[in-house]
Amino acid sequence: MPTPPAYYTTSLGTALHGDSLDMLRDLPAGSVNLVMTSPPFALHFKKEYGNESQKDYIPWFCQFASEVKRVLADDGSFVIDIGGAWEQGQPTRSLYQFKLLIALVEEMGFHLAQEFFWHNPGKMPAPAEWVTVRRIRVKYSVNCVWWLSNTPWPKADNKRVLVPYSPDMERLIKRGYKAKQRPSGHNVTEKWGKDQGGAICSNLFT
Ligand SMILES: C[S@@+](CC[C@H](N)C(=O)[O-])C[C@H]1O[C@@H](n2cnc3c(N)ncnc32)[C@H](O)[C@@H]1O
Repeated sequence: MPTPPAYYTTSLGTALHGDSLDMLRDLPAGSVNLVMTSPPFALHFKKEYGNESQKDYIPWFCQFASEVKRVLADDGSFVIDIGGAWEQGQPTRSLYQFKLLIALVEEMGFHLAQEFFWHNPGKMPAPAEWVTVRRIRVKYSVNCVWWLSNTPWPKADNKRVLVPYSPDMERLIKRGYKAKQRPSGHNVTEKWGKDQGGAICSNLFT
């Protein structure tokens, strides 16, 4: 399929609108720095855009992933936001997003740079039968975010995503820190009390 015309263009680039599998196939190898997707999840209650079953999910997703592998630069990143799913008819969770991660790493050769979790406190309490009727499970409010790459060295710099220091840390920076061994066994030096412009963020997004 030929690449569709530009959907819109700004000074920052061009958006295309079409089937991503066709569009990935049109791109030259090693030409992409970041592929970021929130694909349709393997849900039982199908959305109008369609959802693959848990049984067929991995082969379906791997068609996209093999094109991503080809187009990604050696220091590029492949980021997948993926929600979990329940098993049909019973209050237990599917493992499909973990099986996908294992297939992407162990069968397709991606590296897992890091796993992140996206906490969405506004999620509805579902499925109703288990969460609000029988009250035997709690609200599920976390998506997995798999950060993958073709090599162990995707381009990254955590200094560009600093978060504000906690009030405790601000106090410590002001007063200075005396080097010591923490109860966890970590040796913390005086450098730890230096203002670095913000704290290193964690792998939990809210
Ligand atoms: C899971 S939704 C995104 C959901 C959203 N991130 C959320 O959390 O609710 C997946 C989106 O992928 C789109 N989509 C599915 N297959 C596609 C394909 N082959 N190419 C491009 N987009 C596709 C669907 O239309 C839908 O908008």
